[in-house]
Amino acid sequence: MKVAFFSIKKDDFSRFEQMNLNYNHTLILFEAQLSKKTAILASGYPAINAFVNDILDEETLGILHQGGTKYITLRSAGFNNVDLKSAQKLGLTIARVPAYSPNAIAEYTLGLLLALSRKITLGATRAKNGNYSLTGLCGYNINGKTVGIIGTGKIGSVMVKLLSGFGCRILAVDKYQNSECLKLGVEYTDYNTLFEQSDIITLHCPLMKDTRHIINDNSISLMKDGVTLINTSRGALIDTKAVINALKIKKIGALAIDVYEEESEIFFEDHSDSIIQDDIFTRLLTFPNVIVTGHQAFYSKEA
Ligand code: NAI
Repeated sequence: MKVAFFSIKKDDFSRFEQMNLNYNHTLILFEAQLSKKTAILASGYPAINAFVNDILDEETLGILHQGGTKYITLRSAGFNNVDLKSAQKLGLTIARVPAYSPNAIAEYTLGLLLALSRKITLGATRAKNGNYSLTGLCGYNINGKTVGIIGTGKIGSVMVKLLSGFGCRILAVDKYQNSECLKLGVEYTDYNTLFEQSDIITLHCPLMKDTRHIINDNSISLMKDGVTLINTSRGALIDTKAVINALKIKKIGALAIDVYEEESEIFFEDHSDSIIQDDIFTRLLTFPNVIVTGHQAFYSKEA
């Protein structure tokens, strides 16, 4: 089958061509992001493959459909960038990655947590500059803390397994209780209790209408002073402005994000010689207790 790939980076070219040796599809690989402006490139391709920040809105899907596309495959677990109702109307079939090596994301999240709790990135930056003072580098142990996990699906449940070695109490919110998590002692609770009792909160639910800005002024006001917050799921789970205000008054003690609500303008590209125009994003980068990475959690060889 003829398959058009979008948002392909140099590193991925050989990987996809290598994989295709077993399948013999006809691949065309575009570096361009998929949107209504670029959808025309897929004309004549019955299948397309899109990435996490490609925009599959009503207009884009319409252009793809007119060009003969029937199948849309995603190189992501999340599918918040696809207008599913329009796709259904047009008779397009959508497939996502059912399990994107949950370990890749959970292990990365744990890495972010340890980097925050023990101020590892801060210490490493100081050491590079010849500064070995420990002033301001005192961290905290995860042992004995309460960790709140929002979403105990494939990634959240691996997070539970990894965390259970640390000797912490684990609270969780999910529409469904995961039996593996229950066996590991997870206490399912409601949102307010999780916000009120957790020292560390990590987000592993999908971005949907009811989870958009789940971290907002109101939920933050319920949290413990100095709470650690980690988001490796989707940027818009967090109201970034609310989080910045909470960081300024030290309500949030540490933050790590691998995703950002306006990331499609910034991530996956080198902006080191240009001026980033997003003032909210650049404000985040100024905090010593904030770690930002560019949607990298999935990026392991195994995934
Ligand atoms: P999953 O579908 O296995 O698990 C999601 C869990 O969230 C489910 O148990 C579901 O019941 C729960 N959930 C749904 N609505 C909820 C709500 N309102 N409150 C609490 N829980 C709710 O998905 P998986 O594979 O664990 O991935 C989770 C998310 O991680 C994806 O949706 C995606 O956004 C993100 N992700 C991020 C990556 C990265 O590189 N940073 C890579 C892969 C996924």
